[in-house]
Amino acid sequence: MAEGNSDVAGNEVAGGSGEVVGSVAYDGIGELVTCDPAVGDGTPLGVIKDAAVVVDRGRVAWVGPTVNAPPTDRRVDLGGRCVLPGFVDSHSHLVFAGDRAAEFAARMSGQPYQAGGIRSTVDATRVATDDDLRAGAQRLVAEMRRQGTTTVEIKSGYGLTVEDERRCLRIAGELTDEVTFLGAHVVAPEYAGDTAAYVDLVTTAMMDACAPLARWIDVFVEDGAFDADAARAILVAGRGRGLGLRVHANQLGAGPGVQLACELGAASADHCTHLTVADVGALADSGTVATLVPAADFSTRSPVYPDGRRLIDAGATLAIATDCNPGTSYTTSMPFVIALAVRECGLTPSEAVVAATAGGAAALRRDDVGRLSVGARADLAVVDAPSHVHLAYRPGVPLTTTAAAGPGRPQADAMAQG
Ligand code: NIG
Ligand code: FE
Repeated sequence: MAEGNSDVAGNEVAGGSGEVVGSVAYDGIGELVTCDPAVGDGTPLGVIKDAAVVVDRGRVAWVGPTVNAPPTDRRVDLGGRCVLPGFVDSHSHLVFAGDRAAEFAARMSGQPYQAGGIRSTVDATRVATDDDLRAGAQRLVAEMRRQGTTTVEIKSGYGLTVEDERRCLRIAGELTDEVTFLGAHVVAPEYAGDTAAYVDLVTTAMMDACAPLARWIDVFVEDGAFDADAARAILVAGRGRGLGLRVHANQLGAGPGVQLACELGAASADHCTHLTVADVGALADSGTVATLVPAADFSTRSPVYPDGRRLIDAGATLAIATDCNPGTSYTTSMPFVIALAVRECGLTPSEAVVAATAGGAAALRRDDVGRLSVGARADLAVVDAPSHVHLAYRPGVPLTTTAAAGPGRPQADAMAQG
């Protein structure tokens, strides 16, 4: 949000919480992308040209052509810009200390990415204070906000002790409602060589301490992390504690992660860089969203990007996310991810925008975000360009900001402070 009690478009807001006072019509929108196929031109983008959005008490109260807009307390002319739903970044790891710039530089000199790099961030995170971890995560959330993200999922996974996982989740919960317990990121160093004992810890004492602080549980299924049997035990235990399921799947090779995610009815299988024909079929036939994180493939110099085109053509639901973390993807920029999804994963600009909004919402099983139609949270992303195509067409250019954000939830308030 802008300095003082005003939003990015210059409206008065209540108490700095992001709540816009009275009803406001955002009009003069050259291209309104609602991401609601029931609205506008009938495509998945749900486009209305020369449009207005009326916001009341943090919710979308009306959308349509500006000429038909109802009277409101205030109006803000967006000067022909494009407006879309705030991005839903459904995969991030923001609670950590230190960075891995040296590891990145080594990779760019030819060394491969290996899951073991996670342990260096674990060491730094364990010795960091809560205040340091909080300040780091807040800074990254503020970066996201400035680039149009209004909903973010945040995982633990760099603590790997009962108490360190717990405090990472507590800090994540100060910033979002979408908190994910990733105690099964890698085997904790104390348990090296005894994966079974670590899985036992994750499914018992760590689960007891962490499940109450999370909505989701995630497991990194990969050589060097957890195999299918261990992951199944952890996910089933999490489900038994009321957590929804997410899986880091098929990032470095065509392993069992995607099949496991689909079999267990996970909300999302994330990465999906190396898929077999059977994996694509399983994603297409299940309710599990395929979440692509191509900035991780970019930053690990992966020889392969996920084939989004193949997944869409098969009928899978796609999301795209930053996977922001210090090892494989140290970016907070959904516009950058959109550009990569278009250039490297075979999506059209329209498909990438839908995946970054409605797709992210589907991956989080949310229907109040990722769309701009009546009843949705008033999370507006304003693109300083006439159409959504410019997000991919002008890569690396900071075109996107946020306007009105719905009040009343910790996430909105925390993101508003950015
Ligand atoms: O999603 N793959 C597992 N977790 C992260 C990487 C974490 C790290 O390298 O620190 C990811 O890419
Ligand atoms: Fe990740």
